[in-house]
Amino acid sequence: MIQISITTNKQTSISVYPLLTNAELTSSGNTAKNQESVSNFLASGEHQGKYGVMRTIYQNNERMMFVGAGDLDKLTLQKLRALAVKTAQKLNKNNIESADIYLTELDIKGASLTDKVQAIAEGFWLGLYTFNVYQTKEKESKTELSSINIVIDGDEAEAKAALDTAKAIASGTIFARNLGNEPGNVCTPEYLGEQAAALSHPKLKTTVMDKAAIEKAGFTALLAVNQGSNKEPRFIVMEYNGAGNNDAPIALVGKGLTFDAGGISIKPAAQMDEMKFDMCGSAAVLGIFKAVTEMNLPINLLGVIPSTENLLGGSAYKPGDIVTTYKGLTIEVLNTDAEGRVILSDALAYAAEQKPAEIIDFATLTGACVIALGGQATGLMGNSDDIKQSLIQSGQKTHDRVWEMPMFEEYQEQIDSKIADIKNTGGREAGTITAACFLSRFVDDIPWAHLDIAGTAWNMKGTDISPVGGATGAGVRLIVDYLQNKVK
Ligand code: BES
Ligand code: MN
Ligand code: ZN
Repeated sequence: MIQISITTNKQTSISVYPLLTNAELTSSGNTAKNQESVSNFLASGEHQGKYGVMRTIYQNNERMMFVGAGDLDKLTLQKLRALAVKTAQKLNKNNIESADIYLTELDIKGASLTDKVQAIAEGFWLGLYTFNVYQTKEKESKTELSSINIVIDGDEAEAKAALDTAKAIASGTIFARNLGNEPGNVCTPEYLGEQAAALSHPKLKTTVMDKAAIEKAGFTALLAVNQGSNKEPRFIVMEYNGAGNNDAPIALVGKGLTFDAGGISIKPAAQMDEMKFDMCGSAAVLGIFKAVTEMNLPINLLGVIPSTENLLGGSAYKPGDIVTTYKGLTIEVLNTDAEGRVILSDALAYAAEQKPAEIIDFATLTGACVIALGGQATGLMGNSDDIKQSLIQSGQKTHDRVWEMPMFEEYQEQIDSKIADIKNTGGREAGTITAACFLSRFVDDIPWAHLDIAGTAWNMKGTDISPVGGATGAGVRLIVDYLQNKVK
C-alpha cells in the first residue's frame, strides 16, 4: 500500500486539481490560475471538466494535473472514490512517484471532510491493487506511485482519523481480495485456517478445528460435503473482545468453500475456474476482522467459518442422501451443488448456540442472485428489520450496496421434504430466497441477516473501484461502516 499523508499545504512539484464542468476550478486551482500556462490551458477549452478526463500541463519544474469532476451537484462520495481510483492509476502509469491531491476541495453535498478523505484514500489504495504474484516474468522497471499527500483546508486531526479508518478498511478489503484471488490449490481450507490464525491482536482469540476436532464437535453437515474431497475441512472460530465487557457479540459467519465443482451434481465446465471464489464469504469475514482489529473498534465479535472443497469421487455425498446436521435437523440432499447452505447450517447453528446479539452471514450462495441483481448489489434477506435497515444505510454510504429480497413465509414450503426435515433445494423459482429460507431454519430467533454476495464478490471485468478484475472484497466496507455506527 502506498504512503498517504494529510497536509495543509503543498509538498511536491506535482499538484492534482479537480476541474468542474465549464472548466471551473476549486480554491487552490483558482490560485494556480494566476500562472499563465494554467490560464492559457483553461482558455484553450481542451479540458471542459468532464468527469474522468485528465490532462497534465507543465510550468517550469511544476506539473499540474487537472482531473475532470463533472457537475458539482451530480458528484457523490462514490464518484469521488472512483475518481481517486482513476487518478491513482493515471499517476502510476505516468511514472509519477508522489503528488499533492486537492480533491477534498470538491464541495460534495452532505459529505464531511472525514467522508471525503476516507473516500479519496480508499480510492487510491483500492485502485492500485494488483494480484500478480504468480507472474514470473520481470516487469519492466518503472517508477511507481509510492506516496501522495491529501491536501486539506480544515481540521487536520479529523482528516488524520479518517485516513486511519480508510487504511484499516483498505487493508481489510485487500486481505479479502487476496484470499479470493488465490487459486484453489493454494487457498485450501487449511490455508484459510492459517490465514485466520495469523491475524493477531491482544483481544482476538482464534481457534482452528481440524477434521478430528470437527468430528468430535459434531459438525456433520460440513463433514458430509467434505466427503468428496481429499483435503481436510476446517472450522474456524474467532472471538474478538474489543468492548472489554461481556456484551453478547455480533456473529459474522462466512461460507469458506475453497473450490466448488458442484460435487456429483457437477457444474458445467465453462467458468468453473471461478468457483475458487466460492470462499469469498469467509474472505469478507476475515477482512472485516482485520479492519476491526486494526481500528481497535470497541465491539465484541464472533467469527465462524466452515471450510471445505465440494468435489466428486467414490466417497462424495450424493443426491438422495439424508444428512443429519449439528443442530439435529435432517437435510434431504437433492442437489450436491447446493452445498453452501449445507455447510452453513452447522456454522449458523453453532453461532446461534453462542447466544450472540445478532448474526450476519456472507455467502456466494446462489447463481440466481447473480441473475437477479448482477454485480451491482448484494442480496439481503433475514428476520430482523433493524439489521436490514442499518445494512441498507451502510450500503448507500459506502457504495458496498445491498438490495432486499422478501422472505414471505409462503416461500418456506418450497424446502419442505417428504422424507427429511428439509431439502437442500427449493426448485428453480426464487432460488435466492429459498436458500435463505433454508438458512433461517438454523438461526432460531436470533436477529439475523443474510448477504448473498454471489454477484458482488468478484468481477472478472473489474469495477470502478476494483479495476483489475477478480475478487472485490465485497462486504468489508459495508460491515465496517455498520459496526462503526453500532459504536457511535
Ligand atoms: N457457489 C454456488 C453459487 C454460485 C454460482 C455463485 C455461480 C456465483 C456464481 C453454489 O454453491 C451453487 O452452486 N448453488 C446452486 C444452487 C442450486 C443447485 C439450488 C446454484 O445457484 O445453481
Ligand atoms: Mn455449489
Ligand atoms: Zn458453492
